[in-house]
Amino acid sequence: MTIPTPTPADKFSFGLWTINWTGQDQFGAATRRPFDPVYVLEKLAEYGAWGITFHDDDLIPFGTPEAEREALIQRFEKGLAETGIVCEMVTTNTFSHPLFKDGAFTANDRAARRYGLRKVLRNVDLAARLGATTFVMWGGREGAEYDWSKDYKAALDRYREGLDTVAGYIKSQGYHLRIGLEPKPNEPRGDILLPTVGHALAFIQTLEHGDIVGLNPEVGHEQMACLNYTAGIAQALWQGKLFHIDLNGQKSIKYDQDLVFGHGDLLSAFGTVDLLENGFPGGGPRYDGPRHFDYKPSRTESEEQVWDTVKANMATYLLLKERALAFRADPVVQEAMRASKLDELAVPTLAPGETAAAFLATPEPADPDALGARDTGFVQLNQLALEHLLGAR
Ligand code: GCO
Ligand code: MN
Ligand code: MN
Repeated sequence: MTIPTPTPADKFSFGLWTINWTGQDQFGAATRRPFDPVYVLEKLAEYGAWGITFHDDDLIPFGTPEAEREALIQRFEKGLAETGIVCEMVTTNTFSHPLFKDGAFTANDRAARRYGLRKVLRNVDLAARLGATTFVMWGGREGAEYDWSKDYKAALDRYREGLDTVAGYIKSQGYHLRIGLEPKPNEPRGDILLPTVGHALAFIQTLEHGDIVGLNPEVGHEQMACLNYTAGIAQALWQGKLFHIDLNGQKSIKYDQDLVFGHGDLLSAFGTVDLLENGFPGGGPRYDGPRHFDYKPSRTESEEQVWDTVKANMATYLLLKERALAFRADPVVQEAMRASKLDELAVPTLAPGETAAAFLATPEPADPDALGARDTGFVQLNQLALEHLLGAR
């Protein structure tokens, strides 16, 4: 069996902060040094990746004087041009500096909020300058540990105000940028606002400029909330709001593990790739954006081994893609899907023009017991998926 080789056509992209994570955690010091950002671009190009993403502070350390900032950006721009790597998404660090300890858009302290808003708007300009098309906003510090420390109503008002300000600014400048909100249930705050895909989708409906605001769901974040990632991105797709994705691995409800994609719940990862590559069984909206990895090379790995973890993410995705394509093309699977009546779900429950009153007025013969006893074949369908995943078919 051969391991597929990635090409830029696969649209794989990586966060600069992922490759450059030094392994420093709450219990121990760094185990690696970060790489020069331009070296990261060169390595990504060498391994067949397509894109890069970063937080402002990943490239330009907090507090860098203006002239140095410009020099760092220009050097990065040159690296992009020379390697052909695309800067597809930019995001803002509104969580590391102590000033953000109570959030950036929802801090009780107004001066902290005004500082945060300025940092984000400035970064919108940088994102547009580098040609990014997505601006991710992960509000990791927007939240609380104690219910009495936050007026949740006021916090949601301020979150909406902040997002509408940023989205309105993007429009007023004519930038080709869309905002991707990234839900997460907790960590670093005890409870984070907009904790899941569902909360964020509902929140977007309240925005004035919600048309350019969608989601950047992360595998591990939904799984930390014991939710089904594939089902979450399916609803975002259905609502036209799947703007970007963060792929990684997570093993159940615990701290944010940020493992390599597929190194957590593999069957779920297979379902995710199946949806991304094949779409809904009955057709519908498709995701054609970047396959973006937001993981952390485990701190046990050496600097050299970081590149093995980069390759592992892409190889795992491509292997799952091969199997997902074979799964859907298999006549046995197609027959099992028909037997499970997946196609029948596309038929509306009421006939064209049939009203609830007309429906009630015309009772039809039905045998509840026979309906209760009908075959579904769902377990067999799942077994077929598993056998394809294991390479047995
Ligand atoms: C996390 C998040 C972040 C965000 C990043 C982009 O749990 O740490 O996933 O990595 O994706 O900050 O905004
Ligand atoms: Mn994460
Ligand atoms: Mn993420």
